[in-house]
Amino acid sequence: MCGIVGYLGPSQAFPVLLNELKCLEYRGYDSAGVAVIEEGRLCVLKAAGKLSNLEALLESKRPKASVGIGHTRWATHGIPNDQNAHPHTDKSGTVAVVHNGIIENHEELRDELKSLGYEFASETDTEVIVHLVSHEYAKDQDLLQSILRAVKRLSGIFALGIVSQKHPDRIYAVNHHYSLSVGLGDNENFLASDSMAVRQYTNRVIKLDQSELAEITTTGVRLFTFDGKEVKRSPIALDTSPYVIDKCGYKHFLLKEIHEQPLVLRQTLSKYLRHPNHPIDLNIDHLSTGSGETAYGVHLTEEEIKGLDRISVFACGTAYHASMVGKLLLEELVGIPCEVEIASEIRGRKVLVNESTLAIAVSQSGETADTLAALKEAKSKGAYTLGITNRADSHLAHLTQNLMVTECGIEVSVAATKTYLAQLASFYLLAIYLAEKRGTISKERAKELKVQLNLVPTMIEQILAREEQIRDVSVKYAEAHDVVFIGRGLNFPTALEGALKLKELSYIHASGYAAGELKHGPIAVLDQNVPVITVLVPGAVYEKTLSNAQEARARKAKMICVAVDGDEQATKTFDAVLAIPPVDELFSPMTSVVPLQLLSYFIADYLGKDVDQPRNLAKSVTVE
Ligand code: M6R
Repeated sequence: MCGIVGYLGPSQAFPVLLNELKCLEYRGYDSAGVAVIEEGRLCVLKAAGKLSNLEALLESKRPKASVGIGHTRWATHGIPNDQNAHPHTDKSGTVAVVHNGIIENHEELRDELKSLGYEFASETDTEVIVHLVSHEYAKDQDLLQSILRAVKRLSGIFALGIVSQKHPDRIYAVNHHYSLSVGLGDNENFLASDSMAVRQYTNRVIKLDQSELAEITTTGVRLFTFDGKEVKRSPIALDTSPYVIDKCGYKHFLLKEIHEQPLVLRQTLSKYLRHPNHPIDLNIDHLSTGSGETAYGVHLTEEEIKGLDRISVFACGTAYHASMVGKLLLEELVGIPCEVEIASEIRGRKVLVNESTLAIAVSQSGETADTLAALKEAKSKGAYTLGITNRADSHLAHLTQNLMVTECGIEVSVAATKTYLAQLASFYLLAIYLAEKRGTISKERAKELKVQLNLVPTMIEQILAREEQIRDVSVKYAEAHDVVFIGRGLNFPTALEGALKLKELSYIHASGYAAGELKHGPIAVLDQNVPVITVLVPGAVYEKTLSNAQEARARKAKMICVAVDGDEQATKTFDAVLAIPPVDELFSPMTSVVPLQLLSYFIADYLGKDVDQPRNLAKSVTVE
């Protein structure tokens, strides 16, 4: 959330800042702004709303500057408007700060600064930083030392970019438990929250460590700890394979990404699963793509795997739903007790892991603050760590001893779809892998599972081919104000994910429930205006799920279900059936979610919503 960029060098700063910001818009799009130093004077331009508003402003003003910082905001403190947009400046208008994170003691600092005569122009926590820096600067006119003194007063986790017209030859970057990368060019340097934003200019990057400050000039970068001690670090080389960011003829990235799922699955599966007759191989560090710092693959020895007595999974949002499926798979196939925690929910609680625990952190971005915090806590207690992420260069990837990278390419749409499928695939692979190593499944069963897994991409293709039918059903429910999703067992998480997608994309209130829980309360909300979407696949909980759906039907709810082809019960019971190819219950979460993704997409598109960048959301949630 929130993206920071910077540039200094011989080129015009504003087009570079804009290009960098475009790569970071996924981190928030409530407002955007830049501060550049134009003919010795600090010039700040900002605009509420999407980056395109700032782009129009910059195009009209075309500031002539070769140094500047920029920001794209996801609001935490203060509504999204021009005033609260970053950069924020001090009262003399000479220092500007952009900020990602939360300053937890901002109220106390604000009161203190107000009592010293500082006036505040915004409601943000960020503004205390710029006044603090300015206050410290007045003491000795040493910007580096002023920033270090100011930073020591701040509580919370944060990343900052700072420029001053009194020091127009430099940018300061501060990282405290966040991510910031400095891209190194020839007589020019770049700053960005995500190295992806500087890749268009250079592949040589220095990542700031925790509690570090960088002084960036055109000729070099000096790194300091918060105690002012200079540290040396060599740049790393970024992966240079091109990212394709193109809708490829689809109306939205989301639809394209839903359609990419068969390919993504095949890529993730083929990386680890060579042939159903062979054991799954997760130990693949030879596939390392170049940062040189990341431990690709799962490197636990057979003895370590046999010694595991608990698995703890930490994740948020969609990744949490994938992890809920993962828990059931791991318990079913590996027989190890597994718990899944919403990462934000274990803050302030005891994390019960030890040296025999495998702690798994699942995150598309690899930057979710709560997930990282949970992972660090588990790591500090001696648990083995495994990351499942789509970003091999992420914070999460560098923190874990073992790493599974999902082969999705960039997911542009803020709502996760293909990465959900790839996270599910990673759990299937991991569960089979651990089960083979621990001998909890027979060779025949393992082979059968791998054969089934390989069939899933084709089944998804078959569902996608029915897109028109799914659209026709979906738009009939577009005017609903509340929608209830139910499922049991492996498809309870599917119900949760279906509800999340509908909420995110269409802003229709939707809730997912374990089908058996409906009668314990949620059933009270049902009437003829509330569609109930049931995930109903043949297997151990089919009959019970059907009974729960009947209970909803008896309350006159509109009934829709996801069911397999030829399910006559479903045709009789439901007003509409979103049919999927017959599937083994164990693998059904990977197929049953696809019609629900499409349903949410078609409803949102029908309602004219901003499908790829829904209001209030950010793709990478880096605040706690
Ligand atoms: O990057 P992460 O997987 O850690 O993100 C977790 C959630 O923020 C994310 O899944 C969110 O719920 C998405 N908007 C879902 O579409």
